[in-house]
Amino acid sequence: MTTSPWPLTATDSGGVLSIGGLPVTELAEEFGTPLWVLDEADLRDRCRAYREAFPGVDVGYASKAWCAVGILRIVAEEGLSVDVASAGELHTAHVAGVPMERVIFHGNNKSVAEIEMAAELGVGRVVADSMAELDRLEAVGAARGHVFDIWVRVTPGIDAHTHEYVRTGHDDSKFGFTLSLGLADEAVRHALGLEHVRLVGAHAHVGSQIFGTDAFVANAEVMVGALARWRDEHGLVLGELNLGGGMGIRYTHEDHPVQPDRYGKATLEAVAEACDRHGHPRPKLFIEPGRAIVGPATVTLYEVGTVKPLPGLTTWVSVDGGMSDNIRPALYDAEHEVRLASRASEAAPVTVDVVGKHCESGDIVRERASLPGDVAPGDLLAVAATGAYTASMASNYNRLPRPAAIVVADGAARLLQRRETLDDVVARDVL
Ligand SMILES: Cc1ncc(COP(=O)(O)O)c(C=O)c1O
Repeated sequence: MTTSPWPLTATDSGGVLSIGGLPVTELAEEFGTPLWVLDEADLRDRCRAYREAFPGVDVGYASKAWCAVGILRIVAEEGLSVDVASAGELHTAHVAGVPMERVIFHGNNKSVAEIEMAAELGVGRVVADSMAELDRLEAVGAARGHVFDIWVRVTPGIDAHTHEYVRTGHDDSKFGFTLSLGLADEAVRHALGLEHVRLVGAHAHVGSQIFGTDAFVANAEVMVGALARWRDEHGLVLGELNLGGGMGIRYTHEDHPVQPDRYGKATLEAVAEACDRHGHPRPKLFIEPGRAIVGPATVTLYEVGTVKPLPGLTTWVSVDGGMSDNIRPALYDAEHEVRLASRASEAAPVTVDVVGKHCESGDIVRERASLPGDVAPGDLLAVAATGAYTASMASNYNRLPRPAAIVVADGAARLLQRRETLDDVVARDVL
């Protein structure tokens, strides 16, 4: 698996970036810009890397990262199960032909209609997030003669939202049953009294873009401890444990997440040690990375439209997309590596702010990017690691049609998602 922010098959010839054996200049000409370019070899390689790093573990893809029929088909072909968090994601998995027993249904506020859809399609696991939801599951199950296999979603009190983790203090979450407040124990007790809910496991996801292994180790220890307590209190041995996603990726050369094998080794050892300590049988393990599967497999191509150097101030380089196709810089101050992708340049590098075309000052593609001093309208810029939480969070802000996405492999490009048209933009306007 590549450790660069750029995908596996990215090469440079005379300053022109190629992915999947295709120069981006040709891709931009054929499909237009902005354009998401997904490197199929990189995506498959990441699926395999995670399966190898977590032997015996059911590796799922958190489809919220980028939920598209073509992507779900590829990850399912690679043997991954799929986590969904809404009727729309579930429908996409269904259309993609993902075996429904390999689908895990998340969400902190699933509607009755969504729960009915899960029963109808025969979703493999529902992750119960609240007492109200346990009752909804019971009611829908009773009405339809269906029994849901469920995990309780536990909030284990581990805050891993930075590169470090904190063992306490992240109990105040809209997701799941807070362990320290006794709510997870209450949920287990409640679930055991229901007839159309079969409690088969537990789930805990501790955060995203986590660079080290400590938070995963802590999660494993806390969760196996909870399983052991429930065994002691209820004589119940839960056979399944999902430790979530959140493995970090490189958006820039300054990011240094550990590699999948280190996440795998640390997590599996922690589970084994905790099970031995508690005398608890080893549960079947599940993980569900999203970003780490699809993020670095994708590059966004933009065309430069204007360059505005303000003497003594900023040089603004505006491209033909922005926050409507990548909200991450505005939402999380995220940084993605950017490069000139359509030609070589001998010009000395300058520091510029690459921005989008939206009516917002926060419409940033990359602040303080280093680009050749002769960057000019018509140049193509490539932005690295844009596969996760970009297309899936895309909007029509300023009524920009959403870009096309393509999958490239072995010198061929296939359309993954077509570009929206101006008619698409007004298609829902009824009056
Ligand atoms: C329950 C759950 N699982 C998995 C993920 C995937 O996280 P990531 O894309 O960081 O791997 C998320 C992300 O929010 C999540 O909420």
